[in-house]
Amino acid sequence: MDRYVVFGNPIGHSKSPMIHKLFAEQTGQSLDYSTLLAPLDDFSGCATAFFQDGRGANVTVPFKEDAYRLANSLTARAERAGAVNTLSKLADGTLLGDNTDGAGLVRDLTVNAGFSLTGKRVLLLGAGGAVRGALEPLLAEKPASVIIANRTVDKAELLAELFCDLGPVSASGYDWLREPVDVIINATSASLTGDVPPIATSLIEAGKTLCYDMMYGKEPTAFCRWASEHGAGVVMDGLGMLAEQAAEAFFLWRGVRPDTAPVLAELRRQLAL
Ligand code: ATR
Repeated sequence: MDRYVVFGNPIGHSKSPMIHKLFAEQTGQSLDYSTLLAPLDDFSGCATAFFQDGRGANVTVPFKEDAYRLANSLTARAERAGAVNTLSKLADGTLLGDNTDGAGLVRDLTVNAGFSLTGKRVLLLGAGGAVRGALEPLLAEKPASVIIANRTVDKAELLAELFCDLGPVSASGYDWLREPVDVIINATSASLTGDVPPIATSLIEAGKTLCYDMMYGKEPTAFCRWASEHGAGVVMDGLGMLAEQAAEAFFLWRGVRPDTAPVLAELRRQLAL
């Protein structure tokens, strides 16, 4: 049976094996998908050993940049992201690195929520790997503007410079912004500690602005609660992005696009338990 894994450290609570098992059942694909705890100091050795007979792998924290370096070739979006979350063994035995995180986010917004990003004013909160991975797929939707706001403004400026050839990107501090936007995407890790980036509530146009947190949890995240309390038109967490980035990886490996709706419903059901 074709073997796939997700590399991470820690990796015990990964939902990826469950997601890919459901995708495989749904599409009639025969494959084995499990977790693989890679040592912090030897991702490369662990991945090379796996790929002696393994077909593909997802890569999560903290190995996405190691996977970027390990890949023999890269998709354009992985090259831009500077990080790889999906490795695929090609027919000639070499490893292709892809990054499906941003595509997963865009698909959750445009397909699952039916929200077109074209011509919209988009505000991204944060300037870490999550934002870097999202920028190319977001800009490909031709928004009117993308503002990257971050606590450490230098990091936002660096990303804006890196992506400005792809569209209208600019950088900002949190407290410089006042005018309403169409979409606010929280890609900071602030929700982990129950914090919300200190942005003005005037950025939300009541009943209209879509607020998206890349994080998710059993209860609404701090950012989702903040958005609801201030009248956001739509509030979403990142569970859909998780399912969609996995579906993109599955499509890359198997050439079949699974239906994410029943898998997302199952993820939501299990999260509530
Ligand atoms: P990831 O790869 O998940 O993006 P990261 O590269 O560590 O993780 O980036 C975390 C992001 O969350 C950064 O933008 C960080 O802001 P700084 O660059 O200023 O450190 C942001 N962040 C983390 N905790 C935060 C908080 N409490 N308030 C605001 N921003 C926060």
